[in-house]
Amino acid sequence: MDSFSFTPVAFVRTPYAATAEVPKGCGAAHVAEGVIEVLSELEPGLADIEGFSHLFVIWVFDRSPGVELYGTAPTDDRPHGVFATRSPKRPNPIGLTVVELLRREGTTLHVRGVDMLDGTPVLDIKPYLTSVDPQKLRRGWLAEAEARRQA
Ligand SMILES: C[S@@+](CC[C@H](N)C(=O)[O-])C[C@H]1O[C@@H](n2cnc3c(N)ncnc32)[C@H](O)[C@@H]1O
Repeated sequence: MDSFSFTPVAFVRTPYAATAEVPKGCGAAHVAEGVIEVLSELEPGLADIEGFSHLFVIWVFDRSPGVELYGTAPTDDRPHGVFATRSPKRPNPIGLTVVELLRREGTTLHVRGVDMLDGTPVLDIKPYLTSVDPQKLRRGWLAEAEARRQA
């Protein structure tokens, strides 16, 4: 089997020291501000990033509690497959968060919408772009769980 090795391009400073502090569950709002500190030698790679309002941040669950292929998320009382959830207990512990870019100061990106623990390593940053028609989006078991809660 192939394996891959990556090193961080950045580290995130967030208000969250422990997983219990990160908002969870249906309707949890991710409005916390944080700072992405990009490695200084990578600064040329940040050219023109200011023009984008939102970014994809791809990061590592470096304090992952292990793997669970089928489990219960905080948003539902019914279990689901890991690839149908955003659980940290993944075979490859990779996280993906969309953040709002507030401003850039050199290699420092000030962002809103972090849900990572303080000090989390970042593997990549990309501009947030989507061409998916919102009318075509389906939210699977999440929509069903929300409907059950409201009933
Ligand atoms: C449900 S996951 C979603 C993360 C990301 N938005 C995603 O979809 O991949 C968010 C949870 O991961 C956990 N978490 C955040 N940073 C972590 C880290 N560095 N290591 C392990 N767990 C982390 C916290 O408990 C947080 O509530």
